[in-house]
Amino acid sequence: MRTQLEALQQASLARLEGAASVADLEQIRVETLGKKGTLTQLLRGLGGVSAEDRPLLGELANGLKTAFNAALAARQLLLQQREMDLRLQAERLDVTLPGRCPPVGGRHPISRALGEIIHIFSEMGFPPATGPEVEDDWHNFEALNIPADHPARQMHDTFYLPPGPRGEKRLLRTHTSTVQIRAMENRRPPLRIIAPGRVFRCDSDLTHTPMFHQVEGFLVDEGVHFGHLKGILERFLHLFFERDLPVRFRPSFFPFTEPSAELDMGCLFCEGRGCRVCKGNGWIEILGCGLIHPAVLDNVGIDREKYSGFAFGVGVERMAMLKYGINDLRLFFENDVRFLEQHARL
Ligand code: FA5
Ligand code: MG
Repeated sequence: MRTQLEALQQASLARLEGAASVADLEQIRVETLGKKGTLTQLLRGLGGVSAEDRPLLGELANGLKTAFNAALAARQLLLQQREMDLRLQAERLDVTLPGRCPPVGGRHPISRALGEIIHIFSEMGFPPATGPEVEDDWHNFEALNIPADHPARQMHDTFYLPPGPRGEKRLLRTHTSTVQIRAMENRRPPLRIIAPGRVFRCDSDLTHTPMFHQVEGFLVDEGVHFGHLKGILERFLHLFFERDLPVRFRPSFFPFTEPSAELDMGCLFCEGRGCRVCKGNGWIEILGCGLIHPAVLDNVGIDREKYSGFAFGVGVERMAMLKYGINDLRLFFENDVRFLEQHARL
């Protein structure tokens, strides 16, 4: 037994000495001190030796265990250090490299423009209101004095939907003027409202997309005239663009306003000389407006003798395009990350 113990001591210490890696050490530890390890088995054999030999052998065995553990720890430290040195040599870390920034999101330019428009009008006392995107014929056309044979009713402009549960005509609203009707049906003058939202038309080119945003604004009170409308719009454009750009009111026609006008801004892409974006005429149309037609007031039961009002509908994409210098409206909705990264802000 004693010679066995001494032999084991020599052998196991020699193995530790020869171990080349931390993993090897673990292997040797298990083979020596593990459940079926050589030393463990020898220690179990102690039960069979005579009582007089047992203390000495016990002491020897414990000495061997202590020596083994000490050698193991020392060897482990050494090998760990060696392995770390090798790794440090192999893996290089250049602390002078610039850090990797996580991408930061931002608001879409249309959301920013919408937010600014809403903010400006809120400060002028026009609180926002909303209406449904799926509309009926009455709110989108009929109540707005758009007769059945008006060109805006033709299929090339309007996206019609299958009829509703009671057979009613349904469509995607083609403008936010629907909210004028909804608000005037439910409320009495004086009224002052803006209605931001999505609208839909079967349209696509540099300055048209099938889905776009409008902000409707209107005011109904006693004695409202065209001067009020002009004043509000000029103030709005000045605040939105933060500078004075060329603007013109151009006489126009809408069935729901009389007189009617459209407002154009000088094309900043060619400075008015004429280019693809403004289709050669130097101006870009951004909104339609006018004094609310008395027939519309009749349709919502507001006294046309007592009240008058103005209304306007701004194209948000056109405003954003001019403010941020974007020369193709369709870019807003193509979701090209390069475009979004260039124009997104918090
Ligand atoms: C209207 O939609 C009227 N409801 C505006 C109005 C309201 C007039 C209240 C009078 C009183 P119009 O179809 O011109 O008008 O459109 C208004 C604005 O929306 C245009 O000036 C333009 O800036 C924008 N717009 C029109 N079609 C598109 C389109 N396909 N893509 C992007 N913007 C568009
Ligand atoms: Mg127009």
